[in-house]
Amino acid sequence: MTNAGEAFEEACRRLKLAGIAEARLEARVMIGNALGVDGTVVLGRPAADISAGEKDRLKAIVERRVRREPLALILGNREFWSLSFRVTEDTLIPRPDSETIIEAALAWASERNDVADILDLGTGSGCLLLSLLYELKNARGLGVDISAAALKVAAENARALGLDDRARFAKGNWGDGLRESFDMIVINPPYIPEGDIAGLAPEVSLFEPRLALSGGADGLDCYRAVIPWLPRLLKSSGRVFIEAGKGQFPAVADLLEKHGLRPVDFIKDLSGIERCVTASGE
Ligand SMILES: C[S@@+](CC[C@H](N)C(=O)[O-])C[C@H]1O[C@@H](n2cnc3c(N)ncnc32)[C@H](O)[C@@H]1O
Repeated sequence: MTNAGEAFEEACRRLKLAGIAEARLEARVMIGNALGVDGTVVLGRPAADISAGEKDRLKAIVERRVRREPLALILGNREFWSLSFRVTEDTLIPRPDSETIIEAALAWASERNDVADILDLGTGSGCLLLSLLYELKNARGLGVDISAAALKVAAENARALGLDDRARFAKGNWGDGLRESFDMIVINPPYIPEGDIAGLAPEVSLFEPRLALSGGADGLDCYRAVIPWLPRLLKSSGRVFIEAGKGQFPAVADLLEKHGLRPVDFIKDLSGIERCVTASGE
């Protein structure tokens, strides 16, 4: 027999050896998941025995994490904007940095009462569109992605959050084939320079979809591809919110201007990086 405390310490030891920085924090989440209760509750009673099945479940989770699979993929979900999103190997794992887009978009929406139609280009798990629809109760939205597998996950997330009556999803290449125009457009395109991907943490380079990461040789290919669609898709009174990689905001602003949009603001994330470029159609 093993007790919860021993199983936890063994998980911590293996995670530390594998170079996982937050080993104790992750081990607590893992033991909670393996036992089907909150990890803090399990560790509140470290002398309690755990069953052979629970021990095996924990071991299987630890094995996957030791191979550097992201915890979000092992557990199948990640929190974003305090909501739970299902994630798979076909979706980018939502990043806290991207909450900068939500904050900026909601701040803009709060100054007006007429945000009715939202477009999310490259929707992935649907985290941007669904967080906005969760907050803006009178809005409806469309999420577009070139990955049919990602769209399936986004649609499941919409159902799980009770937002499927206001969210639609469509397969497409950025704005190609879209006929409508929108009050708000949010975009988090792939923006990592192709040559940098192999040097990223194995959690990213080995497990996240290349289609969601690679922005071509200089990281800007997807901005060049998506921005030309925006003047037609954005209502004249509308606003675009685009995520930019570190140091990319001047190039993104130039592209927006070149295509007739007016860059309005560069909003920093919590690390002080200009993460969200906003632009208006007027
Ligand atoms: C960086 S991920 C962002 C996902 C999600 N919006 C988020 O913020 O977590 C970029 C997304 O763009 C999608 N994508 C890549 N090329 C595309 C294209 N040509 N047209 C539409 N979507 C595309 C990818 O499949 C991926 O889901």
